[in-house]
Amino acid sequence: MQAFIINGPMRLAGTIRISGSKNAALPILAAALLTDEPITLHDVPPLRDITNMRALLTELGCESATQPDGSLTLTPSSTSNSHARYDIVRTMRASVCVLGPLLARRGEARVAMPGGCAIGTRPIDLHLQGLTALGAEISLEGGDVVARAQRLKGTTVFLGGPFGSTVLGTANVMSAATLAEGVTVIESAACEPEIVDLAAVLNAMGAHIRGAGTPRITIEGVSSLHGAEHRILPDRIQAGTYMLASAITAGDVRLDNCPLDSLLAVEDRFQAAGFTINRLDDTQPAGRCSITIHTGGERAGPIRLTTQPFPGYPTDLQAQMMALLTLARGNSVVTEKIFPERFLHVPELGRMGAQVFRQGPTVVISGVDRLVGAPVMASDLRASASLVLAGLAAEGKTTISRIYHLDRGYDRMDERLRALGASIQRVEEDDL
Ligand code: EPU
Repeated sequence: MQAFIINGPMRLAGTIRISGSKNAALPILAAALLTDEPITLHDVPPLRDITNMRALLTELGCESATQPDGSLTLTPSSTSNSHARYDIVRTMRASVCVLGPLLARRGEARVAMPGGCAIGTRPIDLHLQGLTALGAEISLEGGDVVARAQRLKGTTVFLGGPFGSTVLGTANVMSAATLAEGVTVIESAACEPEIVDLAAVLNAMGAHIRGAGTPRITIEGVSSLHGAEHRILPDRIQAGTYMLASAITAGDVRLDNCPLDSLLAVEDRFQAAGFTINRLDDTQPAGRCSITIHTGGERAGPIRLTTQPFPGYPTDLQAQMMALLTLARGNSVVTEKIFPERFLHVPELGRMGAQVFRQGPTVVISGVDRLVGAPVMASDLRASASLVLAGLAAEGKTTISRIYHLDRGYDRMDERLRALGASIQRVEEDDL
C-alpha cells in the first residue's frame, strides 16, 4: 500500500484542468450494455474506479479500449454472462449501475448485493422498488440480487427515500426504462448533473428522455438503442476539492474546464466564508469555464453548512470543506443530511490539532490558528481528500496512509498538487 508525505504549510499557485467526472462516467459506461453498437466516450478520467468498471464490463461481454486520442470505445460482443460478482462489487459499490441496463437488455441481471461501506449502510431498496414497479421479479439468491423480466413495462415510479432521492437508483431506473414498453415517469428523481449527463448519452443512443435535472423524468420506451459518442462532463467534486485546496493555502490557483454552474451552493459557502470566485471566461463549451479563488490572504470566516441533494451543498465536498473550517476565524457548524455517518475525517483532523466536536450528524468546528502535521489515515475517498488539504496547510510533516482510496476518485493528485508547488511525495507504506 502507498502513502502520501506532505510537508507544509505551502501556498499553491498555478493552473489545473478539471478532469471528466467519475460519478458521471460510471453509469454511462454501464449504459453501454444497453446496445450492441460501439459507444465512444471522451474525457473518461483515468481512475481506479473506472478500471474496475471496465473489468466488470469485460466480464459481462463488453470490451473497452483506449484510443490514441485518449477516448474510450466500448464494444459489446457477448450477452452470455449477466453476473456482477461479489469480488468486483465489494471493491466498487457503483457496480450496481449495471443492474438496470442488464435487466432491460438481457431480461436478467445477477448483481452481488453491495454491503455497507465506510460512509455508512448504503441500501439499494429504492433501486429495487423502481425496477419492481417496471415489472421485474426480484429475488435474493446466495447474496446476489437477481432481477428478471421478459420486457419491462413503463409506469410511474417514486424514488424519494428518507435521505432524499437516489442518484444511482435514478440512473438504474432511467436506463432500464429506455427499453421498456410504454412511458415511465420517475417522480422524486435525483436532479444531479451526473443524471443529466447520463440522459444526454442515452438520448444520443436513441432514447426519448425528458426532464433530466428536474424531479420528474419522463422516458418513452424504444425497442432498441444504437451507438453514440459523448464527452463526459467535468468533475464538480474534483473542482470543489481544488478550489478548497487553493483557499486553505491562501493560494492562487486557476481552474480550467470548471463546471461552476453546478457548484453554486459551494460558491455560496465560499462567499459566506469571505472568499470570492472569479469567473474568467465563458468561451469554453457549455457548463465549463475558468475560475480563480480570491481569499485576499485572509483565513475563512466561520460558516454554517448542511449537505443536501443537488442543487444543495454536496455531501462529497463536506469533508474537504471541514478541513478549511478547522482554520476559520470562529465556530462553524456542519450537518450531514445524506450520509449521517460520513465523518471518518473528524478524529483524524483532531490528530492534527483541529477542534472538532461531533454530535450525531452535526459537527461543531472551532477554528484554530494552526494545524500540525501528523500520521493520519481514512478509509473513504473524500475523507482522505480532506486530510490532504489539512496536510497542505499544516505545519510540518503529514503522512496519509491508505491512499488507494484517493486513487479511486482523483487522478494523479500528488502530481497535480506538485505542479501547483506542493511538497508531496508518494511512498510505499512498507518504506515508512
Ligand atoms: N438510499 C436509500 N435507498 C437506496 C439508495 C440510497 O435509502 O436504495 C439512501 C442512501 O443511503 C443515502 C441517500 O439515499 O442516504 C443518497 O444515496 P444515493 O443513492 O444518492 O447515493 P449513490 O447513488 O449510491 C452517489 C455517488 C456518491 C454520492 C451520492 C450522493 C456515485 C458512483 N456515487 O452514490 O459519491 O455521495 O451519490 O450524492 O455516483 C463519492 O464520489 O465519494 C461518492 C460516495
